[in-house]
Amino acid sequence: PVQCLKIGDAFQHIVKMARMIPDYRKHIPSIRNMEMDADDVLICAFSKSGTHWLWEITSMLRNGKADYHRKEKTSAMLEFVPAEVLRALPKPRIYNTHFTPQGLPKQVFDRNCKILFLQRNPKDVLVSFLPFLQGHKFLDSAIQWDEFICKYMEFEVESSLLNWFYYTRQWFEFLKEGHDNIYCMAYEDLKDDPVMEITKLAKFLEVGENSDLFKDIAVKCSFQNLKQAATSKVETFKINNKEAAKKITNFTYRKGEVGDWKNYFTISVNEKFDALYAEKMKGIDFKYRYSL
Ligand code: A3P
Repeated sequence: PVQCLKIGDAFQHIVKMARMIPDYRKHIPSIRNMEMDADDVLICAFSKSGTHWLWEITSMLRNGKADYHRKEKTSAMLEFVPAEVLRALPKPRIYNTHFTPQGLPKQVFDRNCKILFLQRNPKDVLVSFLPFLQGHKFLDSAIQWDEFICKYMEFEVESSLLNWFYYTRQWFEFLKEGHDNIYCMAYEDLKDDPVMEITKLAKFLEVGENSDLFKDIAVKCSFQNLKQAATSKVETFKINNKEAAKKITNFTYRKGEVGDWKNYFTISVNEKFDALYAEKMKGIDFKYRYSL
């Protein structure tokens, strides 16, 4: 059996945070009713699934140039940016969000906007999630991995921002209805063969065939290159304090690997997680890749 550490109060922190989130979402009704143009693209993913990465790739594909986006991904995030500011962003617009389908602007479906639904295996997501939550000071930095994962497995709050099982189930149930404007991708496939995945994505986005560009994009968006580019971006556009900028970049672009979870999950935690997965994801037949 898994030994859950009694020290600390990780779970309390997480619940507190889950309650806090609706405050960020005061503008949700305006997002639901926000206007969308047919050529607006939306990236949907649970936190830590590689959204920054896909956002840069998509931006390069739609601009037809392997140049980094001038802004941070958060500048186009539905949760945090008011609708009128999102609408005023220059085209081509690529929004991103951690909302479930029920939270998206209604016009996304009326106008048949293209949606990229990005998946990553939940074990690597959670390993990435803890330093992210701590880096943003949502969780106490003293909380250790073993304690976090134990408490996370007991976490029942229906939050699309925090609960991977809730978020993912909502999406897959929705996909069962059949939506040909939604393109499903996996972090692991992108890591395994970026040029092939970029080529397939270009086809879905209808941006035309350009194999030289696709190769350039794969190189420009490699983990190291993107991390380097992000450092200067954060420094230039967001924070003047170089140390703070470096910290954010370090947990946003932490390791960029498939299978890092093996360095964190003990055998017993892994067994418990697999059993939980089987229970929570019953009837969802998506197969995640846990190593390459
Ligand atoms: P790790 O913490 O495992 O390194 P998001 O952008 O949705 O917040 O996801 C962040 C995760 O994507 C981090 O995972 C980050 O390192 C990884 N990532 C970002 N860019 C990447 C790239 N070019 N290649 C591989 N992984 C990348």
